[in-house]
Amino acid sequence: MTGAIPVAEATQHLRHDAPAASGQTIAEAPAAAQASYPSLRGKRVIVSGGASGIGEAIVAGFAQQGARVGFIDVAEAAAHALVARLEADADVSHVPICQVQDVSDSDGLNRAMRTLTEALGGCDVLINNAASDDRHTIDDVTPTYWDERMAVNLRHAFFASQAVWPAMKAQSEGVILNLGSISWHLGLEELAIYQVAKAGIEGLTRSLARELGPWNIRVNTIIPGNVQTERQMRWYTPEGEAEIVAAQCLKGRLQPVDIAAMAMFLASDDARYCTGHEYWVDGGWR
Ligand SMILES: NC(=O)c1ccc[n+]([C@@H]2O[C@H](COP(=O)([O-])OP(=O)(O)OC[C@H]3O[C@@H](n4cnc5c(N)ncnc54)[C@H](O)[C@@H]3O)[C@@H](O)[C@H]2O)c1
Repeated sequence: MTGAIPVAEATQHLRHDAPAASGQTIAEAPAAAQASYPSLRGKRVIVSGGASGIGEAIVAGFAQQGARVGFIDVAEAAAHALVARLEADADVSHVPICQVQDVSDSDGLNRAMRTLTEALGGCDVLINNAASDDRHTIDDVTPTYWDERMAVNLRHAFFASQAVWPAMKAQSEGVILNLGSISWHLGLEELAIYQVAKAGIEGLTRSLARELGPWNIRVNTIIPGNVQTERQMRWYTPEGEAEIVAAQCLKGRLQPVDIAAMAMFLASDDARYCTGHEYWVDGGWR
C-alpha cells in the first residue's frame, strides 16, 4: 500500500467554499446511498475477475441487490475470501459461487461459463471485467506477449459473450457489460497493448449491441477513470494521485463502488433503452 494517500489529502483540491455533504468525502458517499433495483432481484449474474478490485464491488453489489451471482477469477485465495465475506453479510440472500479459472485459457473459460450457467440456472447479466494492465515499452513486446495480453484483456470478453448469448436469446432478454478504460482515450505511455485491447472492447460492445439487439440483449461499455483498487496502489505516488485529482472536475478519488453503481443501473430494467454505448465514471477527468 505504499504510495497510497488518504482521501482527505487526495481531495485537497476541493474548494474551501464547496458544500460538504453531511461530512462525507466524495469517495464514501455512494456506498451509503446505494440505490435498490427491484428488477435485479433473482437475476443470474456472471462476473469475470470478480475476486478483487472493481469486480469484487460488482459481485458484492449485485449480491446485496438479491441477485444470484457467479464469478470467475484466477486468484483463488481472494475468490474464497470474498465468498466467505459475503456468506457473513446479512444483506446477501444468495451467497455468490466462484470458479477459479484463468480467462485467457479459452477452453477453461468455456468450461467455467458452462458450470456457472448451469449452477445459476441460466444467465441474465454478464459482466466482462477481468483485465490486467501490466506495463511494457515498445521494445519489450514479442508476438507471444502480444497474444497473451490480448487474451487477458480482450479475447475472453468475446468468448464469454458467445457462451451466454444462446440462453439470453432463448429468453429474449439479457445484458452484457464490458469494462473499458479511460487510458487509451488519454493515450498513456507503457500501456500500448492494454490500450489496443480496451479500444477493442468499445468496438466489441458496439458490434454485439447491434447484432444481439433484436433479441432484447443490451450491450454497453463502462469506462472507469482512475479507481483506487489495491492493484492500482502499486503504480501510485502521492504526486501522481494528486495530479489525477487535479485533472478531474470532481476533486475526490473514485472507488470500486462507484463503478459497481453504474453496472447495477445499466443491468437493471431502469436502463432498458441503454445499449451500444460507453458510460463514463471518471469524475470528469476526460
Ligand atoms: N482501477 C482502475 O483505475 C481502472 C481504470 C480503467 C479501467 N479499469 C478496468 O476495470 C476492470 C477492473 O479493474 P480493477 O482495477 O478492479 O483490476 P484489479 O487488478 O484490481 O482486479 C482484476 C481482477 O481480475 C482478476 N484477473 C486478472 N487476470 C485474470 C485472468 N487472466 N483470469 C481470471 N481473472 C483474472 C484478478 O485476479 C482480479 O481479481 C478492468 O477491466 C480494468 O481494465 C480499471
